[in-house]
Parts: sequence; C-alpha cells; structure tokens
Amino acid sequence: MLNNIDINKMNHLMEVNKDARQIISQLLENHHTEVSMIAHEIRNPLTLVSSSLQIIEAQHPEVKEFSSWNQTMEDIHFMCSLLNDLSTFNNSCSLHHSVFSIERLLKNIAVSFAISLDSDESSDISFRSRIAPGMGDFTGDKVKLEEVILNLLRNAKEAVGHSGKIFLSAERIDNEIVICCKDNGCGIPDDIRDQIFEPFVTGKDNGTGLGLSLSKRIVEAHSGTISAESSPEKGTVFTVRLPI
Ligand SMILES: Nc1ncnc2c1ncn2[C@@H]1O[C@H](COP(=O)(O)OP(=O)(O)OP(=O)(O)O)[C@@H](O)[C@H]1O
Ligand SMILES: [Mg+2]
Repeated sequence: MLNNIDINKMNHLMEVNKDARQIISQLLENHHTEVSMIAHEIRNPLTLVSSSLQIIEAQHPEVKEFSSWNQTMEDIHFMCSLLNDLSTFNNSCSLHHSVFSIERLLKNIAVSFAISLDSDESSDISFRSRIAPGMGDFTGDKVKLEEVILNLLRNAKEAVGHSGKIFLSAERIDNEIVICCKDNGCGIPDDIRDQIFEPFVTGKDNGTGLGLSLSKRIVEAHSGTISAESSPEKGTVFTVRLPI
C-alpha cells in the first residue's frame, strides 16, 4: 500500500516527467480495474455459497444446532461486506456530481439514524442534531457524502456501546460547510490513533478498517478535509470541512 510520502513522490514525478505521467496513469488505471475484477470474481461464488447456506437453513432448521453454524454464517456475511467495502473504496474517487441542498441531505440522514436507534430496543443512545438552515446549494456526490456521514455515525454508535450521546452538527463558516460528529464513547485506541485513515486499520474484532479511509478519499475528492480529536475521557469528534 502506498503511503502519503510515496504518493507525493509519485505526484512529483508525474508533474516533472511526461512519460512518467503516462506510465503511472496507465498503471493506476490497470490496478483499479484489477481490484474491481478480483472483488467481483470472488463476490459471485461467495454470493452463491451464502444463498445455498440460507436455503439449507430454511429447509433444515436443525443445522442451527451445529456449534459452528452461526459462526460460519457470520464469517460469510463479513466476507461479503468486506468485498462490498473494497469495491466502494476502489471507486471512491470517481464522483457523480449533482447540485443539492446539504441541509436537506443531513436532516434526512439524521432522521433515518434516529429511527434506526429507536428501533434497536437493546440500546439507550441519545442522539441530537443541529443542522443550520441556509447553507445553500452544494455541488458534489450526494450518495458518497451520505456514505461519509453514515460511516461517522456508525463508528460513533459502535464507540458508545449501549448507552451514550451522539451529536451531529453542520453549519456554513465562510466558504466552507463544517460538519461535526461528536460522541462520548471509548475514544480512539492510542496504538492506532495516527493511522485510522489508512485502509484496513481497525481496533474492532469484526471491523474491516475501510470506513474512515473510504470517507477520507471521498472528502478529499471534494477538495475537503477530515480530522479527528479524541480522548478516552471525553470521546471523539470528527470534523469534515467541505469547500463550497
Ligand atoms: N467515533 C469513534 N470512537 C472511537 N474510535 C473510533 C471512532 N471512529 C473510528 N474509531 C477507531 O478507528 C478505527 C477505524 O475506523 P473505520 O471506520 O475505518 O473502520 P472500522 O469501523 O473498524 O471498520 P468498518 O470498515 O466496518 O467501518 C475503528 O476500528 C476504531 O478503533
Ligand atoms: Mg467504521
């Protein structure tokens, strides 16, 4: 995996040397296509295996009594979502622009998230949002930006556990939309704090570690920034800044 220093060197080479620019662009395009093809080719048979197991379970409910059955189903589900995340990650830089109201988008996300929390009877999480009116029209990829906010809210939910507080806010400051997702959960583990935006870095047993790296790519493709402040005592705040 290329780190930021490698990417800077590569960008520099592309700027100063026309041949290098052509070869590197071609290699990047090939790499992109190969990752998509591999994810696609593995997903097809995996989906078949998953469907067959579901049919077996429906026709022979007694299989659930096997000690490894539930774990196998969970592992298959995890692999399917890993492959989905991988192809989303691979496609995160190609944006489909439209003009939309960011206020409406964020309010809709807040309502859906609140409903999903309410429907989970085992959780007692308090969620509030303050989305400022009058942020104007925004040009960007609505679906991908929704994905970013949902990733942040999902992480906040996972960080607070069964009870805690989550706060989503958005306002326009000068020529930027500033979106904050704050929680009073466990805080980002010290050992991964500096790498959370790198792919496959996770502090969770069943995490893929792609959520934040994907979010960073999407935000940067909109020429924005994403940052985090965290402590075990206070919790975590993620701030996304998007230029208008
Ligand atoms: N709000 C938060 N509070 C505490 N830790 C967080 C928070 N958000 C992210 N993290 C830490 O950063 C890690 C990386 O997050 P990221 O969303 O990229 O991956 P993930 O949540 O582990 O897996 P997934 O790909 O399923 O989202 C998490 O595993 C977690 O340890
Ligand atoms: Mg996540």
